[in-house]
Amino acid sequence: MSYGGVLGAPGPKSGPKVVWRWVLVCMVLGTAGALAICGFLAGLGNYVMRQQSPSRTIVADIEDEFVPEARAIRKERIRLCQGRRVYTYNLPKQFNLDILDRFCQNKTNYPEMCQKFINSGLGFELRHVMDPLESWYRTDQFSLDLMFHERMRKYPCATDDPEIADLYYVPYYVGWDIAEHLFTPQIQIRDQLVQRFVGWMMAQPSFNRLQGHKHLLVLGRIVWDFDRKVELSNWGNSLLSAPELENMTSLMLERNPSIDPEKQVAVPYPTSFHPRSDSELKLWQKKVASSPRNGSLVSLAGSPRRDKTKGSVMYYYLRDNLFEQCNKSEVCTFIICDQIDCQSNPHLVTKLLLQSTFCLQPPGDSPTRKGIFDCFMAGTIPVFFTPLSAHQQYLWHLPQDGDSYSVLFDEVEVRDKGFDVMSALKQIPPSRIKRMQRTIVEQILPAIVYDHPDRDPNKKSRDVIDRILEHLFTRGLHDQYDNLT
Ligand SMILES: *[C@@H]1O[C@H](CO)[C@@H](O)[C@H](O)[C@H]1NC(C)=O
Ligand SMILES: *[C@@H]1O[C@H](CO)[C@@H](O)[C@H](O)[C@H]1NC(C)=O
Ligand SMILES: *[C@@H]1O[C@H](CO)[C@@H](O)[C@H](O)[C@H]1NC(C)=O
Ligand SMILES: *[C@@H]1O[C@H](CO)[C@@H](O)[C@H](O)[C@H]1NC(C)=O
Repeated sequence: MSYGGVLGAPGPKSGPKVVWRWVLVCMVLGTAGALAICGFLAGLGNYVMRQQSPSRTIVADIEDEFVPEARAIRKERIRLCQGRRVYTYNLPKQFNLDILDRFCQNKTNYPEMCQKFINSGLGFELRHVMDPLESWYRTDQFSLDLMFHERMRKYPCATDDPEIADLYYVPYYVGWDIAEHLFTPQIQIRDQLVQRFVGWMMAQPSFNRLQGHKHLLVLGRIVWDFDRKVELSNWGNSLLSAPELENMTSLMLERNPSIDPEKQVAVPYPTSFHPRSDSELKLWQKKVASSPRNGSLVSLAGSPRRDKTKGSVMYYYLRDNLFEQCNKSEVCTFIICDQIDCQSNPHLVTKLLLQSTFCLQPPGDSPTRKGIFDCFMAGTIPVFFTPLSAHQQYLWHLPQDGDSYSVLFDEVEVRDKGFDVMSALKQIPPSRIKRMQRTIVEQILPAIVYDHPDRDPNKKSRDVIDRILEHLFTRGLHDQYDNLT
């Protein structure tokens, strides 16, 4: 089974060196015939390099110092990568690929997960459904572990020297690890790999030298799946309570608002749109901006919670209340996700959103949900019922002023005091609506996109991961801890 590039990870940096050797041989030979052959070989080498070793195209040492161009390229690379070199640990497979293999070889209770790993975690292509035609995938909301790893594999300033890196990425797919065991009652089983992981990290000289600072974990789910305080809860593993890992930075889809936001960083849920270039992104922005929004003022996509015996009951009452209000109103349209499988059919939800001005975002099992980002992606204005859904979460990716892009109503008013959501939304002045729409389409949409891992290297607009790295390199890690290196 191959999971896009990650499993077929290349060997060491043979690619660029080989190409440079060929170029040199060609320069020495110099004859027309030899040039033709060499041109072919160099082209082939380039091709092989791109196929097998994309992460090394810029990073690899170009040893041929006596070639002036090589020296210039090298100098330029060192300049560009100054302060932004990433070292990716070569973790034993038990911490990443073996987990995926268990899903794919039907050794877990959830073999259907396997299809979420293809295309480096983007999932199946969703061709010819929405413009731009090649940019859409059936991406699972919890696919960040794999997507991030693939991006780091192709990161131009990757380094294989743990002495000189500015950031240390640890590709433990802990989101998929806990997904395998979420409903396993035995705590020892849920924590087994976490404990081995702590042991492995403690044996790494670079981890010890930095006391865990500058080290990055990517947890492709919400904080509560990793934050079991041993005696209190029956849910999740205890990764985030391991004292040995206290100085690491973790990315996750929902953070615990009482923890330092530089340590637990909430990042956008992946959506289905993965552009490769600025033009693909612009095409979608244009479509979103020009969408007539003449379907219904308000939309709601989700599942009413008929079973109130489980989970966060208060949230369920709120959600059901909103379904009722929507059902009764002539300005609101709903989609019941149990019935159409919203996750596998993102185009159906997007079609509804494109025709609406507002989308209701009641919490699900926890305050955040992927629907918030589907909503932004369609240029629709989210309506929140708690600041925990977004305003206090995505500090690196959303504007500081929540009122500039969303509407916030009080959860208790709506749930218990008969607050009429539709009437309140009808009263929002068109000028404010226009301003919010513009902020969403021009500012937020490009910032919450996860680019396709094979993106155009000249793409200028910075996606979610570019912005994460920028933050980590500038303030998140640097200022505080530079004295350690
Ligand atoms: C996985 O295994 C179960 C039980 O052994 C079996 O019923 C099921 O058909 C298998 N599914 C796949 C996709 O192989
Ligand atoms: C975390 O960092 C602080 C200060 O930088 C240090 O005192 C502490 O020992 C570190 N913790 C671990 C587990 O290394
Ligand atoms: C919305 O407007 C578009 C173009 O102006 C039109 O084709 C479409 O039928 C309209 N839809 C509704 C539901 O009125
Ligand atoms: C909407 O209202 C109709 C008529 O009262 C009812 O039959 C239906 O179950 C309602 N749907 C939802 C999702 O509440």
